[in-house]
Amino acid sequence: MQLQINGQTQRVQAPAGKPLLWLLREDLALTGTKFGCGAAQCGACTVHVDGAATRCCVLPFEALKGKRITTIEALDQSRIGRALQAAWLAEQVPQCGYCQSGMLMAAAALLAEHAKPSDEDVKAAMSNLCRCGTYPRVKAAIARAAAALQDGSAA
Ligand code: FES
Ligand code: FES
Repeated sequence: MQLQINGQTQRVQAPAGKPLLWLLREDLALTGTKFGCGAAQCGACTVHVDGAATRCCVLPFEALKGKRITTIEALDQSRIGRALQAAWLAEQVPQCGYCQSGMLMAAAALLAEHAKPSDEDVKAAMSNLCRCGTYPRVKAAIARAAAALQDGSAA
């Protein structure tokens, strides 16, 4: 079967029902997407499917046929992604870092939908869990990235 991942067509072969998360990590060496809960609860495994933030730990890869999949490895291919990376650095967001690729992917989908997200938009989009409690810095970095995208200072 063929999948569209990070702008490339990938031929994949895996047992039926294999979650996309494990296809990415084990078969395609795209290990930036993390395993946390395995139950679509924590957000560590967030990727984009046709631009929407999607938790892929319980998503059979066959369901992605014809869809556009983007992982953290391609975050810097978009202006929003680059603005988020810069903001994450400026705000020194990560602590252990484990949840952060999922956080960034959720934030990128949020900013693609809401250029100036309200507190409610952020709250609704950012339900990812962080055991290190980086939530205030995540929020600050999203605001910083949104501002940079608005005022043209983002690369
Ligand atoms: S590992 Fe997928 S949501 Fe937690
Ligand atoms: S930075 Fe450690 S779990 Fe979020």
